[in-house]
Amino acid sequence: MSSHPPVRDWATDFDHTDPGWVTDPFPIWDELRETCPVAHSDRYGGTWLPVRHEDVAAVAYDTEHFTSRQVIVSEARPGPNDLPAPIGIAPPITSDPPFHALARRLLLPAFAPKPIAALEPSTRELCRELLDATAGKSTFDAAVEYAQEIPVRVIVRMLGFPQEDAPRFRQFIHQIIEAVDVPAEERRELQDQGELGEYFEARINEHLANPQSDLTTFLLEAELDGNKLEPDHVMGTMILLMVAGIDTTWSAIGASIWHLATHPEDRHRLAAEPELLPTAVEEFLRAYAPVTMARMVSQDFEFQGCPMRAGDWMLLPFPAANRDPEVSRMPIGW
Ligand code: HEM
Repeated sequence: MSSHPPVRDWATDFDHTDPGWVTDPFPIWDELRETCPVAHSDRYGGTWLPVRHEDVAAVAYDTEHFTSRQVIVSEARPGPNDLPAPIGIAPPITSDPPFHALARRLLLPAFAPKPIAALEPSTRELCRELLDATAGKSTFDAAVEYAQEIPVRVIVRMLGFPQEDAPRFRQFIHQIIEAVDVPAEERRELQDQGELGEYFEARINEHLANPQSDLTTFLLEAELDGNKLEPDHVMGTMILLMVAGIDTTWSAIGASIWHLATHPEDRHRLAAEPELLPTAVEEFLRAYAPVTMARMVSQDFEFQGCPMRAGDWMLLPFPAANRDPEVSRMPIGW
């Protein structure tokens, strides 16, 4: 939860770590869409917030005025030790064109339908084991004991790390994703990969000595223009895959369970019509879209009448865009 003072006004002082936003951001975005579709806050050194689909999409596609060099809004700014654009600290998500396309393309074979389908049986088995472990309990925390357990264990398996290390990944995620509103110095210390860097380095060395058929060996053997990837690139992408694979998915599973728990009519309908499951999954992903990344303004310019300054943050609330009535009509109560 936020260590910042409470938000005074969502149009001029918003903070995405404020308990009001964390608990229920939807009415905030609805109101902003009507009154101030590109909000601003002096927090984090200056941050903008578009909430209409059209504006979020425009920013995401505009690589001339916005850089992906840093994609997590926090008190800490890119420092001298950070890898500069266009590669960034965790390629491809922190890369800008033209390098971005290359760094992204080299990952695609590892995420093709066939290798992903191969993970399905073990993932289903894991889910069943987690549910079996709740047998006999009258209540349990579905977020902590179910949703959070799945991605951590799956990504540990994909990267080829020891399963018993899975719990450590929760701490790593907290460091990178959750502790965003701490003071800049503290944030830098958390980001200074320390234990996280040492941990990944040890796994990389093990894989160099003893290659496996997993994502770590895949990255160590990958080539760009006939050359092996720089060690920083390999480490940055591994950390990205850990974060991208865990934080997104546990939020998506948790939000879906929460929706079904609070909307019995949808729960009953899904139980009665299981063929709706693929549609339901798509809708959960759209409505609760568990990724809010950011860009940094790379040059002074005007966007939707707002004066952007180089170095300002631009928060991209994808779920706000997905709920814009101009492009989607959410059922009442979603
Ligand atoms: C519910 C699950 C997920 C959601 C909603 C999601 C969403 C997103 C979004 C919105 C972006 C773009 C961010 C931006 O424009 O800055 C992104 C990028 C990315 N995600 Fe995911 N993601 C999910 C799961 C995963 C998983 C499981 C992995 C891998 C293990 C993954 C790997 C990546 C990578 C490598 C990128 C960077 C792609 C690029 O820069 O071209 N994601 N994800």
